[in-house]
Amino acid sequence: MPAFIDIQGLTKRYRNADENAVDNLSLQINQAEIFGLLGPNGAGKTTTISILCNQIIANSGQVYIEGKSLNSDRENIKKIIGVVPQDIALYPKLSAYENLRFFGNMYGLSGNDLRDRISISVDIFGLRHKLNDKIATFSGGMKRRVNLIAGILHRPKVLFLDEPTVGIDVQSKNVIIEHLQNLNRNEGTTIVYTSHLMDEAEKFCTQIAIIDMGKIIAEGKPKQMIKEHPSFNNLEDIFLLLTGRSLRD
Ligand SMILES: Nc1ncnc2c1ncn2[C@@H]1O[C@H](COP(=O)(O)OP(=O)(O)O)[C@@H](O)[C@H]1O
Ligand SMILES: [Mg+2]
Repeated sequence: MPAFIDIQGLTKRYRNADENAVDNLSLQINQAEIFGLLGPNGAGKTTTISILCNQIIANSGQVYIEGKSLNSDRENIKKIIGVVPQDIALYPKLSAYENLRFFGNMYGLSGNDLRDRISISVDIFGLRHKLNDKIATFSGGMKRRVNLIAGILHRPKVLFLDEPTVGIDVQSKNVIIEHLQNLNRNEGTTIVYTSHLMDEAEKFCTQIAIIDMGKIIAEGKPKQMIKEHPSFNNLEDIFLLLTGRSLRD
């Protein structure tokens, strides 16, 4: 059986760039995994995620999700994936409710069903009291929470998140990680997330790949990888060993 997400020889070179941002990258991700694509700034994480959610097009390579080709079956793939981008993709002058209604509509949701889904989500993420306030008045952590809700209203089978917990308060971070774990546990949602926060990834991910200069340089289960490097206690040390670089930006 092919993997749930099957990435074969993906390569992306931006116009005028001297090197590939993603360089012949192959990766298999199983269903219901919490998969971490980890690497330092500029490693190619956002480029990879953007290709997987059809926001940019690779120069070469193939991606299959649930056996469907990203190139030839775009519309069907769009229905089963959810995207939470690194940069907040909300309309600042609209309220949280108006933003979520907009994104819900985009995924074909409407009426009572959409209203109920928004209502349940704002309770889970502690945003009930801000529902009718303009996004412009929200803190960074609150915007991230709305951004996340926008990506999951249609209950995708696969959720792509690009650095969803970077630069926000601890409370928002915990709410986000806990909810993602619940989605994975209760609905079997496959989660693909990028991060440069190794301590978080070590606890959160069931499987990881370390990416550097557009290439996968290591892959495995966090606990297993630590076991295989007896002189190290954590993922961050292993990363330093493999790349000679710190993950912190
Ligand atoms: N729109 C772009 N045009 C040209 N180069 C880009 C663009 N976006 C990213 N890059 C370059 O591609 C490489 C990978 O970037 P990116 O995928 O954003 O890495 P990461 O998300 O891991 O920080 C970097 O060298 C970056 O400078
Ligand atoms: Mg990035």
